[in-house]
Amino acid sequence: MKEETLLVRDNRTGKTYDLPLFKGTVRAMDFRQIKTDPEDFGLMTYDPAFMNTASTMSSITFIDGDKGILRYRGYPIEELAETCSFLDVAYLLLFGELPPAEESREWADKVNHHTMIHENLKKFMEGFRHDAHPMGMFVSTVSALSTFYPEARDVKNKQARKIQILRLIGKVPTIAAYAYRHSLGLPYVYPDNAFGYTENFLNMLWRMTETRYKPNPVLASALDVLFILHADHEQNCSANTMRCVGSAHADPYLSLAAAAAALAGPLHGGANEEVLRMLDEIGTVSGVPAFVEKVKRGECKLMGFGHRVYKNYDPRARIVKQTAEEVFKVTGVNPKLEIAMELERIALRDEYFTRRKLYPNVDFYSGIIYQAMGFSPDMFTVLFAIPRTVGWLAQWQELLDDPEQKIARPRQIFTGQALRHVATPAPEKVPVAVA
Ligand code: SDX
Repeated sequence: MKEETLLVRDNRTGKTYDLPLFKGTVRAMDFRQIKTDPEDFGLMTYDPAFMNTASTMSSITFIDGDKGILRYRGYPIEELAETCSFLDVAYLLLFGELPPAEESREWADKVNHHTMIHENLKKFMEGFRHDAHPMGMFVSTVSALSTFYPEARDVKNKQARKIQILRLIGKVPTIAAYAYRHSLGLPYVYPDNAFGYTENFLNMLWRMTETRYKPNPVLASALDVLFILHADHEQNCSANTMRCVGSAHADPYLSLAAAAAALAGPLHGGANEEVLRMLDEIGTVSGVPAFVEKVKRGECKLMGFGHRVYKNYDPRARIVKQTAEEVFKVTGVNPKLEIAMELERIALRDEYFTRRKLYPNVDFYSGIIYQAMGFSPDMFTVLFAIPRTVGWLAQWQELLDDPEQKIARPRQIFTGQALRHVATPAPEKVPVAVA
């Protein structure tokens, strides 16, 4: 077996170094031995936006961007979406295995046991303007949860962690639904734990005066699939945020609020909302060619296209498209679908996009489904944050159990002013204004 090392020659000194290769990487700290003299700090690596930097080892999610592969704990996303419930996939992401039937029922009951939120949180949410963005309400209310559970600060206590994980998974749909009802000026609907996870969410969103809401099974099942697709995605921007804030041992509510804030960015989870705005701007299928030319002139991005890791079709986008067909049988086809499909058709044949390996990502079609289901675009990222809560928590607990991890604190290349001094005042005293 060839030696698993990298031979590095420092031409400044003529010295050579054998750097061990570690799972396809070089440990950045191994570069620190490369110095020009003993006083030298040694070499660092420079990698803005972590384009080529592994920040952790993880066994949760595997992505092969070139082949368009996504697996949770080894299971292909296609199989999980086809055969499992979202809560069972949540269990898989958090504990590493799919739950046996008995455990699955117990797990769902435990989550259901935590769907209520403290009545004071309703008053907290009352403080938002009627037109407050639901993501702003979601992030703020999740962080407010930390004030109700001070014991959550004991992040090294695995038992305490488990309760917080259940509380967050149980409560995020309630907070999301309350944010939605607040924006419409409607009374909140309490959770009904006789329902499943997504049915309960639809109940809290859309129950009106009927004594008991009847969730449409096709929509509930479609939402369950969409939740599975959005549950985790290895070291994406918001997962990195969860790990960074979590590495300081902030409690899981504050860490998750930070992660949700990152997800709200239009380049990340906020893209699904931007896709709908983009489709509205294009207006009709005949408007697509002119818009594509605008993108190619660099005047705007084709939202819902491109990905840092996938340089092929995002496998989730394919499943979202299939799910759309099921939803549209109930809701009727969203006319925006035609524009989106024409956009995809043209882009996938245009060298501007193919040369940059820009394909539809998970956000390209999800908003079209959500809109057909009755959600307003400003709720789309909240619909992303609910299932991603599971992925953030799985990444967070893996971080805390990783002996190699400590508080995240990157270095920098300093490009500012060299040492200089404040000009001392002239000898005569500068008169001090006396009040
Ligand atoms: C998510 O990381 C994850 O896993 C995220 C996610 C998850 O599940 O957590 O998958 C969810 O965030 C999906 C991505 C949603 N965002 C969007 O759809 C927004 C539009 N996409 C882009 O902004 C962009 O593709 C990113 C942010 C997704 C990725 O950007 P990168 O990896 O930093 O790539 P880049 O910006 O360096 O682009 C490379 C080139 C550039 O052109 P050149 O400078 O080489 O000429 O491709 C161009 C970019 O201008 N480009 C696009 C484009 N995306 C990249 N041009 C037009 N439209 C686009 N969408």
